[in-house]
Amino acid sequence: MNELAKELNTILKGTVLEDLLSDMGRRFYFPKGIVAQSTEAAEHAHRFTATIGMAKYKGKPMNLESIRKFIPELDPDEIFPYAPTSGSKNLRLLWKKQMIKKNPHLEGIETSSPLVVAGITAGISILADLFTDPKDIIIIPDMFWGNYRLIFEGKKEGTVVTFPFFNEKNKLNLSALEKAMTDNAGKGKLILLLNFPNNPTGYAPLKDEVDPLASVLEKAAQKGLKILTIIDDSYYGLFYEEDIYPESIFTRLSTLHPNILAVKLDGATKEDFVWGFRIGFLTYGGKGLTRDHFTALEKKTMGLIRSSISNCNQLGQSLLIRGLTSETYESEKKENLRILLAKYEKVKEIIKQAGENTPLKALPFNSGYFMCFYLEKGNAEKLRHYLLYEKGIGTISIGEKYLRIAYACVELEQMEELFNEIYKAAEIFA
Ligand SMILES: Cc1ncc(COP(=O)(O)O)c(C=O)c1O
Repeated sequence: MNELAKELNTILKGTVLEDLLSDMGRRFYFPKGIVAQSTEAAEHAHRFTATIGMAKYKGKPMNLESIRKFIPELDPDEIFPYAPTSGSKNLRLLWKKQMIKKNPHLEGIETSSPLVVAGITAGISILADLFTDPKDIIIIPDMFWGNYRLIFEGKKEGTVVTFPFFNEKNKLNLSALEKAMTDNAGKGKLILLLNFPNNPTGYAPLKDEVDPLASVLEKAAQKGLKILTIIDDSYYGLFYEEDIYPESIFTRLSTLHPNILAVKLDGATKEDFVWGFRIGFLTYGGKGLTRDHFTALEKKTMGLIRSSISNCNQLGQSLLIRGLTSETYESEKKENLRILLAKYEKVKEIIKQAGENTPLKALPFNSGYFMCFYLEKGNAEKLRHYLLYEKGIGTISIGEKYLRIAYACVELEQMEELFNEIYKAAEIFA
């Protein structure tokens, strides 16, 4: 094993990381190669810098006017250079500040500093590399974003185990979660992935659901189970009801038990409406973990970034910094949230009007981009196919019984027509 990896493992010895890291995670480190030497040179080389593979002219990155002219307000240094492997320092500080603003209870809690990853997808993939060996169990609610399976099973040969997301009272099914954890505790290590607001249901936990959720994890940790909890906060903040727990559960899990490592994945993708920028953030938390532990973990993570995409999009990071520091940033976000809230309220109204006498039953939803119908009768894929090829309406079928409607990407004025068509079509297949 590389000496640098050994050093990092020694730092992490005696913590939950010792049991949670995969073989690959144990082997990983951030090399003292070009990137580390260039960073060192940037601080100390006061005469010439002849380190990195970039071309410069008159002190600026060389560039082509035919590209540069479309980004007139940014300096070439904000557009063209490689970004640091861990992400722009300034952006990481700004994001951390934002995180605390959105999650006031995070204030004063030791966490890693957020690392920039190429979207939340890349963050999940990195965590899968760092923590999953073949046959490791990954517990996910049965309503989940399909890419999780591709990453954890397709890439890493882990085993995804699902539990029913909702119970019969249409609340989070915590007893099913507890059972899934107990049934799969055999190896002493579990990966749990939670995503709120959830894709595909559009559900975020209510204020009274968070303590019981935390207590399920705490009880399991108290029995000695080592748990990596990945918290996918992609849709954070798109909350449409007052009774939703307004912070990320990352805060709670970061202080819960030394056997729990919490990782928050969030990003500009959905929160700042920049889907194609590919900017997400990965932040570690865990009771008892110190700055040194977090630094060691950051280095392992940076090794994975360096060995895959090397670094994330510089232009996107610079634009995000400009956005986050703009005076109108908050008010623009509020306006977008208002538009999404109006769509949500419209959908709620349409569903209420449709009443009970329909084969389509809406699952609980209160946040995010989506809602899901459960088909009491008929097949979801057949319904999807009919809607698409007979009516020109695109939806997503999930298994045989669920149809996901991404109402956030439909115009408010067209919502009624869209749902009427869906209800009518469902009758044909009932
Ligand atoms: C639950 C969830 N996680 C992650 C992602 C991907 O995020 P990103 O585009 O930042 O990779 C999505 C996108 O649809 C999602 O729904």
